[in-house]
Amino acid sequence: MSVTVRSFAKINLGLCIGPLRPDGFHDLRTIYQTIALHDVIRVEVTRGTGIEIQCKDPRVPKDQSNTCYRIVAPAMAALRATGRVVIEIEKKLPVQGGLGGGSANAVAVLLALERVFKKQITAVEKMRIAADVGSDLPLFLVGGTVLGLGHGEEVYPLSDLPSVACVIATPEISISTPKAFADWDRLGAPAKLTAPTPSDRMLMCGRRFSAWLSGLSQNKIRTGKALSGVLVARGRGRAENPLLDLVRTGIENDFERVVFPQYPELIKVKRVLEEADAFYASLSGSGSAIYGLFASRTAAARAVARLRKAGTPAVATTTLTRQQYWKKIFD
Ligand code: C5P
Repeated sequence: MSVTVRSFAKINLGLCIGPLRPDGFHDLRTIYQTIALHDVIRVEVTRGTGIEIQCKDPRVPKDQSNTCYRIVAPAMAALRATGRVVIEIEKKLPVQGGLGGGSANAVAVLLALERVFKKQITAVEKMRIAADVGSDLPLFLVGGTVLGLGHGEEVYPLSDLPSVACVIATPEISISTPKAFADWDRLGAPAKLTAPTPSDRMLMCGRRFSAWLSGLSQNKIRTGKALSGVLVARGRGRAENPLLDLVRTGIENDFERVVFPQYPELIKVKRVLEEADAFYASLSGSGSAIYGLFASRTAAARAVARLRKAGTPAVATTTLTRQQYWKKIFD
């Protein structure tokens, strides 16, 4: 029996890097948001043993360095199952793009294996398995708008932000996340001037998130219902949209400070998005994908045309709420 799963990508709405910890990870604070762009993963279990990864994209590793490969053993152990696991990856997301493609693929395999064997692994066990494979996996067990703490693996569902038009620019640059973290540690004083120590940065980021979340709950009390709402265009009216409220707290992605000086062409991509009226544009994760959030699909389509004209691959998509995420995963 084979099971097909959509493996959706994520973007980071702000990402703050904290101190390097004794376990080799950095503390971080971020808000993950799932988006509709996805790979397709097909999982089949046959008689025998072993793991086989099939993918037409030569950049995708077929061995144990692939997160899909690494999740199979703990998943099969939790399911008390045996067999030969064949995973086919239809790659549409960029590799090493900061969109969590590889991590989402692995979670898709975990969910597919549950379906293949018609058995459920407990939610807590799935979180453990996912976090053991990589920091960016657990968020895909939540979906929608997700607070990421710890080294990114500690995830909490937030009230969903309304679905908005989004443009993902994918310059043909692969960025290694461990290298980007190492570069952050080496970053000179001037670039870190705004916040002298990593702990100060974390405190500031925590205050931003906390102020935003308290604003959200006050709003909920006032209206007596969960927040949804129509997007207000940049510069117009008060922020009745929680996403605009979040943007207005001054969220930033710290990776821009190490990645942009190395790849100045990415600064231009972000500028094109801003000039095309994105109400927020940023590097996602450690990049190189850059996203822009837009007030309308028409504005997003215009931005895509501008980027492509300038030679940057780009697609228009939307952010996915938790409900949309889970509804579309097995569709
Ligand atoms: O968790 P993941 O396998 O994606 O992490 C890969 C590497 O990225 C880690 O071994 C570490 O060097 C770096 N990393 C980090 N801090 C994080 C997440 C990852 O330093 N919060």
